[in-house]
Amino acid sequence: MRTPMIAGNWKLHKTLAESSALVRELMPAVAANQVVEIVVAPVFTALDKVAEAIAGSNIKLAAQNCYSQPQGAFTGEVSPPLLKDVGCQYVIIGHSERRQLFGESDELINSKAHALAKTGLGSILCIGETLDEREADQMFDVLRRQVRLGLKNLSAEQMAGVVIAYEPVWAIGTGKTASDAQAQEAHAFIRALLTELYDKPTANATRILYGGSVKPDNVDNLMSQPDVDGALVGGASLKAEDFARIVNFQTTT
Ligand code: PGA
Repeated sequence: MRTPMIAGNWKLHKTLAESSALVRELMPAVAANQVVEIVVAPVFTALDKVAEAIAGSNIKLAAQNCYSQPQGAFTGEVSPPLLKDVGCQYVIIGHSERRQLFGESDELINSKAHALAKTGLGSILCIGETLDEREADQMFDVLRRQVRLGLKNLSAEQMAGVVIAYEPVWAIGTGKTASDAQAQEAHAFIRALLTELYDKPTANATRILYGGSVKPDNVDNLMSQPDVDGALVGGASLKAEDFARIVNFQTTT
């Protein structure tokens, strides 16, 4: 069975004081949950502070991005070994905002996945189609390309450290969630693709999160879909009460 993961992507929000206040409010609200792997991804500058605040708790730390090289003349970048050093266990890569606003290619994202595997950090690899692509019936082609190229040359063994997040771009920050059926359809497609690229055990063991306007009032139904193994949460992860309710989801099946 796959351990569900609920990950909060704080994006470019929160000062040091606000970040530690948020996790301090969150910790008691999720402390009793031993079922879900709980992850928060603050901005780089708050990682150390949040790491300190969550030490010994059931909350894990993630970064929102990284570079592929461990060190060197790469002004402005942050590397996987440094993220490990500050206490991260996961790094989000290939978020649609990185792809769209910062021109990240599947090849660059793949190089980050390799760097993370080499460093022993987990990747949360984001994929997802835009509204235009969905309406042009290109959704499956886009997902296939992003999965194939994003995971290129990663071994089945390295896949143990990879979590995939299906985030339809049209659902991110828009309040429009994919329907339960739309999410399940995409997740089942991605899992079948993993069987094709790897094997059935690898596909069955890989967690596929849904992301895009996940809220306290839609998480239960989403999490009841057989191939939805968790959520990557943006806006609703900025409020402890909402994020805690999402972490403590109740499946309806
Ligand atoms: P949202 O963001 O929950 O605010 O839609 C999700 C994400 O971008 O990871």
